[in-house]
Order: sequence, then structure tokens, then C-alpha cells
Amino acid sequence: MKMGEQLYEGKAKKVFATDDPACYIVAYKDDATAFNGLKKGTITGKGVVNNRMSNLLFRYLEDCGIPTHFVEELDDRTTVVRRVTIVPLEVIVRNIAAGSFCKRYGAVEGMDLKNPTVEFSYKNDELGDPLINTSHATALGLATQQTIDDITDMTLRINEALKAYFAKVGIILVDFKLEFGITPEGKLILADEISPDTCRLWDATTRQKLDKDRFRQDLGGVEGAYQEVYHRLGLDKA
Ligand code: TMP
Repeated sequence: MKMGEQLYEGKAKKVFATDDPACYIVAYKDDATAFNGLKKGTITGKGVVNNRMSNLLFRYLEDCGIPTHFVEELDDRTTVVRRVTIVPLEVIVRNIAAGSFCKRYGAVEGMDLKNPTVEFSYKNDELGDPLINTSHATALGLATQQTIDDITDMTLRINEALKAYFAKVGIILVDFKLEFGITPEGKLILADEISPDTCRLWDATTRQKLDKDRFRQDLGGVEGAYQEVYHRLGLDKA
């Protein structure tokens, strides 16, 4: 597979064309941003962690019957993925209260939620990814009701599968963000990444934060937290 022209550079990844029109190559960077790009930094080694961790979890989810964009890992930072049109919704699942959920509802961080929640943000950097309800999303033509229903079903299945996977390595999956895409054939599949950038991951014993909140909140030990997740998932040995 030959790497072609760069199509897009996002905050954490670059996307390249390939000689196969059905595939793109994504390259993960060490650049980190928070608060819609207001805070900028570098997390050394993050690109490797996020690439290899996403690929491990995508392969696991495929085994659980969830279709994903994963095709082939080329090296530590680059992966071939299926070409999709991204549905412009960020899909956020929460198992435990944290982050903007606490701010919005006055919930105490760390409170167990009585059921997993699913919410959507409109993926639009200029607007700061505002929370959006499903009637607004269909009204704006961002997705059909059927697509939103399918995304919700898949997301709740993904949550159960990932919670169990992380539990085995002593990590609590507090919350996370997913993105979905539609293939040229019209099939809905999981896209983007699943990493410490896009998940809140807490040590099951100490409840220590092992994710990007260490960067967002200036907690220190940012690189160490990413490496700890990498280690727990066995990626330093694989
Ligand atoms: P929040 O509590 O700030 O709404 O974040 C919920 C989850 O979504 C958390 O695991 C971090 C993830 N997230 C992203 O992946 N990208 C983003 O731009 C934001 C704001 C959150």
C-alpha cells in the first residue's frame, strides 16, 4: 500500500490518500490539545500508544461483531483504515460522572451512574462541538434517525465490550467518545480512535487518572499514564 497525498491534518492525526481508493492511511502525532485547541502541548510517545491501542481495541470489537474502519497496522504510528464519510456527531458514553457531566448537572466526580448514558455533540470546531439532541441532528441533516438509532445500539454494545476488556487489566472505563463513518457502500462502521485521548480511564484500585485529564488539568505524569495503559494492555510485549 503506497502513501499518497495528505488529505487532512487534525489536532492529533494526519490522513493520507493511498493507491487504493477504498483506503486511507492515518498517522498519529504526539501533539495534544484541550479545550477546543486553546491549550496545546506534546505528549511524547502518545502517537504510538494511541495508534496501537486503537488497533488492539478495534480488532477486539470486530471479534465482538462490531464493524470498524481498521484494516492493517503499518508501523507504530500509521494504520490503513477504510475510507468513510464521518458522521459529524461525537458520541459520548458515560458510566461514572466526570468532566462536563459534573459541570452541567452538579454531579460529584466519581459517582456511579444508574445506567450508561449516551449523548451527542455536533462535531464542529468553530462552534466548540456543542451538545446536540437527536431531533436537532436530524433537522440539520447531520444523520438520519435510523443512523442515530444504529449508532446508539452499537455504542451501548461497544461500552459493554470495552468495560469488560478494561476491567480485566484493572482499569475502570469512566467515559469515552466515539465517531462513526459511512462507507461508500452505505455501511455504518466505527471509525476514529479509542485511546487515552478519547477515554477517561481510572486505575480500578487507586482511581488514579490514566488519561488525557492529566494533561487537561495539569496533573503531571502525563506520559507515564499513557505508558501505564500501554503496559496494562500488554502492548509493550506484543
Ligand atoms: P467531557 O466530560 O469533557 O464531555 O468528555 C467526555 C469524554 O469524551 C471524555 O472521555 C473525553 C472525551 N472527549 C474527546 O474525546 N474529545 C473532546 O473533544 C472532548 C471534549 C471529550
